Amino acid sequence: MEALRLVLRYIHLVGFALLLGGFVVQYLSAKFRVNGAMLAGSAIQVVTGVVLSAPFPKDVELDHAKLAVKGVLAVLIAGMVWSVRKKESVAAGHFIAIGGMTLVNAAVATFWR
Ligand code: HEM
Repeated sequence: MEALRLVLRYIHLVGFALLLGGFVVQYLSAKFRVNGAMLAGSAIQVVTGVVLSAPFPKDVELDHAKLAVKGVLAVLIAGMVWSVRKKESVAAGHFIAIGGMTLVNAAVATFWR
């Protein structure tokens, strides 16, 4: 069970890399549109995050308030990514909010102890 949690955390970090990396590529090229990496990353974060919120192995300590904050943010991010996936161009505010909320969620994961 411990190994399964490590594998899931690893996939969770790959999802984070896809989401933030996809965002940064678009941001630096000044083409504000959603790419495949962001679509995959936002979905991977929600799915792996939900599974990581399950109490396994038995002695794992979970912070439910922290997980609730992360869950709400991740669902908002995924909604904001998937709802504009077919658009050639996304409003700057909408696009930058996706990257900003991703960074906030990583900060919550890291600093909320
Ligand atoms: C965009 C969305 C998300 C981002 C950027 C993100 C980011 C991260 C990062 C960077 C870590 C590693 C932190 C560390 O090991 O110190 C982490 C771990 C974790 N995240 Fe997320 N996360 C997201 C969504 C979610 C969601 C939706 C949930 C569940 C509601 C969740 C639950 C967890 C859990 C339980 C861990 C700890 C895994 C473990 O140590 O076993 N995450 N997240």
